[in-house]
Amino acid sequence: MKYIIAVIQPDRLEEVLRILEEKEIHLVTVSSVLGRGRQKGISEVYRGHKEGGRLLKKVKLEIAVNEEFVKSTVDAIKEGARTGHIGDGKVFVLDLQECFRIRTGETGKDAIG
Ligand SMILES: Nc1ncnc2c1ncn2[C@@H]1O[C@H](COP(=O)(O)OP(=O)(O)OP(=O)(O)O)[C@@H](O)[C@H]1O
Ligand SMILES: [Mg+2]
Repeated sequence: MKYIIAVIQPDRLEEVLRILEEKEIHLVTVSSVLGRGRQKGISEVYRGHKEGGRLLKKVKLEIAVNEEFVKSTVDAIKEGARTGHIGDGKVFVLDLQECFRIRTGETGKDAIG
């Protein structure tokens, strides 16, 4: 199992979710976050509102998937979020040790999707 974390531009969220749904990936956590990349929030200001401390508004997606969905999930995010401009975002793929569905007691592969 993998835990996929992506930080993207807020105005790309809708398109990323649309492509994820097309690929049957429906379970997702979405947060509004502040962040900065290698431009340290400076050159990118024209794409968003500047916050104190040179942090820019971003959207974070978190998706836990079985191995067979890793590639399609990452591809969907990359496709939906890419404009070719700085600040398009990043995707991180982490090993996921365990997952529990609280209601049923299922674990692992059964609990994840
Ligand atoms: N190494 C990192 N660790 C934690 N968060 C990061 C890291 N790199 C990027 N982020 C998060 O992702 C957001 C988007 O990053 P961004 O796309 O600007 O990356 P970048 O490396 O600066 O690439 P680019 O040159 O294309 O802008 C950042 O605002 C930050 O929230
Ligand atoms: Mg950047």
